[in-house]
Amino acid sequence: MSKQRRQGTVAVVGGAGAVGSTAAFALADSRLVGEVVLVDIDDERAVGEAMDLSHATPFTTPTDVRAGGYEDCWDADVVIVTAGASQAPDETRLDLLDRNAGIFADTIPEVTEGLDDDAVLLIVTNPVDVLTQVAWSVSDLPAGRVIGSGTVLDTARFRHALGREFDLDPADIGAYVIGEHGDSEVLVWSGATVGGVPFGQYCAQTGVGDAEALRTRVDDEVRNAAYEIIDRKGRTNYGVARSVATIVERILGDGRGVLTVSTPVSGHHAISREVFVSLPCVVGSGGVRDVLEFDLSSAERDALADSAAVVRRSVDRLSV
Ligand code: LAC
Repeated sequence: MSKQRRQGTVAVVGGAGAVGSTAAFALADSRLVGEVVLVDIDDERAVGEAMDLSHATPFTTPTDVRAGGYEDCWDADVVIVTAGASQAPDETRLDLLDRNAGIFADTIPEVTEGLDDDAVLLIVTNPVDVLTQVAWSVSDLPAGRVIGSGTVLDTARFRHALGREFDLDPADIGAYVIGEHGDSEVLVWSGATVGGVPFGQYCAQTGVGDAEALRTRVDDEVRNAAYEIIDRKGRTNYGVARSVATIVERILGDGRGVLTVSTPVSGHHAISREVFVSLPCVVGSGGVRDVLEFDLSSAERDALADSAAVVRRSVDRLSV
């Protein structure tokens, strides 16, 4: 019987927005979270969201949900930041950089001013890799405690797509997306497995007609999922919110898990200059414990280096 941890406190900066409030809803369902505090510039809406979320808790776990201010972040175990503009149709995540960097310049110092050094800062706002590096540069937290949601969602999309293609539970799919959470992300096909069987062998064993066409179709679906959703409903929120809740549960829970969160990567693969991108990381209490390396194909190594360079150029443009 694993020891019952005290239930954690999570603050969501941007908690009145679609992603923040959906993440709060997912967390209010988690036995690991005792209190969720919604912080937002629209504090009246934050109060309304907290009231509404509170009425869901009698059906699940006794989680306190309330609106609060930046000072409520300072006692939190995990502070999630979803505040900022989200992509409009035809906008890339990098197109949001100047607007959201401006919001971060005001917000992050308020959040980190009194933050405990055993807290974890989880950045979700896009472009998430660059803004996680911005947040880290402002905070005094060690690197493992400032993490970005990164490609956790893209990895889920990859597994979902392959599970659908093969009519299998996504839990049976071993597949990861690394690099930038964005157009340059890298689907690691060389390491993809289906029930533990390497992707190519699975296709051969099960008579998949055109494995190359399947790869192209799935790569396009995963890489462009956000654009397809935003074109239809104006935003994404459920997938990213559940990804965020999963990261928080790893941080607050007893177990550790491997998640492709965004963390400072230098010296891994062909990445020389320190930059925040996603690689498979062991995530547990205290944030990132270890950063793992794949045995990538040369094409994947080059694509990862290119992806890291995309993020690095944006970081340099902000002169972080
Ligand atoms: C998406 C947003 C979270 O990929 O970037 O849905």
